[in-house]
Amino acid sequence: MLFALSAENAHRLGMACLRVASALPLVLGVLRRWSGATEPLLRIRALGLDLSSPLGLAAGLDKDAEAFEALGALGFAFVEIGTVTALAQPGNARPRLFRLPIDRALINRMGFNNHGAQAAHARLAKPRTTLVGVNIGRSKLTPNEAAVADYVQSAERLAPHADYMVINVSSPNTPSLRDLQAVEQLRPLIVGVQAAVRRVAPSRNVPLLLKVAPDLADADVDAIADLALELKVDGIIATNTTLSRDGLLSSASDIEGCGAGGLSGAPLKERSMAVLRRLRAKVGDKLVLVAVGGIETGEDAWQRILAGATLVQVYSALIYAGPSLPRRIRRELADRVRSAGLPNVSAAIGERDNLRA
Ligand SMILES: Cc1cc2nc3c(=O)[nH]c(=O)nc-3n(C[C@H](O)[C@H](O)[C@H](O)COP(=O)(O)O)c2cc1C
Repeated sequence: MLFALSAENAHRLGMACLRVASALPLVLGVLRRWSGATEPLLRIRALGLDLSSPLGLAAGLDKDAEAFEALGALGFAFVEIGTVTALAQPGNARPRLFRLPIDRALINRMGFNNHGAQAAHARLAKPRTTLVGVNIGRSKLTPNEAAVADYVQSAERLAPHADYMVINVSSPNTPSLRDLQAVEQLRPLIVGVQAAVRRVAPSRNVPLLLKVAPDLADADVDAIADLALELKVDGIIATNTTLSRDGLLSSASDIEGCGAGGLSGAPLKERSMAVLRRLRAKVGDKLVLVAVGGIETGEDAWQRILAGATLVQVYSALIYAGPSLPRRIRRELADRVRSAGLPNVSAAIGERDNLRA
């Protein structure tokens, strides 16, 4: 039914339902029962958190921290809210979200539409049951020269209520944002946000992760990994959406009709995996790697874990498969762990060469 609506109207309707559900304990209970208990062998400790499984929801769906309780009840062990910016902003003009069903892909140029850090703070400050990561980005009106102060402002507001924080420097839809991935720009940004997080949440060790683009040259992936190790960042999320349109099955006119934006979903699978492998080769198990990009099944999640991911996230597949997706991925992943004869999912991380996949 949602596919009869435009992509953004379907998104708004879906989010409205999730928002309402989040406020109704009875409905949350029903959703939790429907999504079922997570298998104990999927439990995992990462980033100082006890997670019911490695499966989380990627940033961009719950931009304003309005529906994380319902999303948690659907079976995501953690929900990444945002991207939140220091200033509230409307995002780009519509239409800005498109489906390519033949490719099981989406193209978006949302442009960080969100109500700003202050509004998210009010929602996150309440008690909650779902683990929430907070993804922050640069406000559109702020130039890159002032980016550190902009990110710091969001970090100061939100870190006290975050289970982890993410510096997003990889969205293609905020002009020149991805230039912040260059190490000379990234270094002061990480240092500034790290200091802010420690300042506002001194008694909690709030983990800090970086989210990177799939379109980086190998040398840039290596440079970011080196910097993350040097500055003791806790983890890297790989990857955001791609600007590439390679390998799509949709017609050229359908693709061109979407215009500019980041491509996500099945066509991103290979490139995201390649970035993950490169990162793992560089950082080993010293950083937590979070895999995202084209994950649709338990098998996809399993392959990322074997390649070195501790955690995995999905977004586009949820749009195509619907709310039973987390339940299915968890079940399939648990089957993989069992068939490999492992006691738990943690034992599979980075074991590609030692286990028959
Ligand atoms: C409509 C849409 C909005 C998104 N917004 C954000 C965002 O605000 N911040 C961010 O870090 N990633 C955002 N993403 C990227 C996703 O978090 C994810 O990295 C990407 O879609 C690849 O995963 P997938 O193939 O499972 O969708 C967005 C993706 C989509 C489709």
